[in-house]
Amino acid sequence: MTSIKDVAAEAGVSVATVSRVLNEHPSVSEDARTRVLAAVASLGYRPNAVARSLRTDQTHTLGLVISDVLNPYFTELARSVEEEARALGYSVIIGNADERPELQDHHVRTLLDRRIDGLLVSPTDGGSPLMLDAARAGTPMVFVDRWIPGVDVPVVRSDGRGAIRDLVAHLHRLGHRRLAIITGPAATTTGQERVEAFREALEECGLDLPDEYIGQGDFQADSGRRATERFLDLAEPPQVVFATDNLMALGALDAVRARGLRVPDDIALAAFDDIRWFVHTDPPITAIAQPTGELGRAAVRALVDRIEGRAPRSVTLPARLVVRRSCGENPATNENPATNENPATNENPATNRSQT
Ligand code: HPA
Repeated sequence: MTSIKDVAAEAGVSVATVSRVLNEHPSVSEDARTRVLAAVASLGYRPNAVARSLRTDQTHTLGLVISDVLNPYFTELARSVEEEARALGYSVIIGNADERPELQDHHVRTLLDRRIDGLLVSPTDGGSPLMLDAARAGTPMVFVDRWIPGVDVPVVRSDGRGAIRDLVAHLHRLGHRRLAIITGPAATTTGQERVEAFREALEECGLDLPDEYIGQGDFQADSGRRATERFLDLAEPPQVVFATDNLMALGALDAVRARGLRVPDDIALAAFDDIRWFVHTDPPITAIAQPTGELGRAAVRALVDRIEGRAPRSVTLPARLVVRRSCGENPATNENPATNENPATNENPATNRSQT
């Protein structure tokens, strides 16, 4: 492998001069710069990032541990994290915890061993000693989407409460009175927040949430399918199922179809998280959209602030209701192809409610 010494010999300059050229140091003559760059090109020299990291104690690498890479919400989040990190001069190593705390720990340990400069985590649970110790020891860290209460780490997330209230009011206006929810794991902040907000919103409309209308899910499609089957077996099934993530919504849609029933004629369906293909399902699904791209970018900016010695800020952005046709909305008023935006790119948090 070509070394910096080979480049220096080829260019006829010292190793220190090569180093100055590569680091864009101003005190290098134009002639030396031209010769060094020509030698770099002709020898195909690549600077040794590992050696540089040892010298500078910085890897310009961020770790991102997400809870489920197969969930399109987290895929979108990872994409924006990588984009923003690249713009700020950092690479990203992604670890997928698959909702398993032991796998999350494995990724956190591996990333810390690799001396990443900072860590973004969407925790699968209440936090293992490894993660809590790392946070306490001052490892630059930011929680994104989910967080661990009581840990002194900035949190970048969206607040779904307002949008859930909008959703319930919308369902109430459409005449629905028996509303059911498929929850996420109680160990996650997102799982807790969505069911609490739903219960509060129902109360505001004078509606109950009976136990048999709460399906315990795990943010995976199968749990959405099973919970919906149980709802449909009830003597008085709900009129609406609200799935608190996109995968469980798809499982719920499957369960309804498997019975030969139709959404929304036989039962309405709404989802938390708007994914690109909700406009293509039959019917298009009414969903709560998070500003996912902006969350990923804000999380990176907070982490890089922390790494580079600036005070990082927690950020909370609002989610918004996107009305489609899965709850029995009148397509003539709600379905406007001219504004049929791509949910993943329309991320203006100022727009609290839109119709597609
Ligand atoms: N789980 C599943 N889907 C999600 C989450 C989550 O915590 N947050 C946003 N979408």
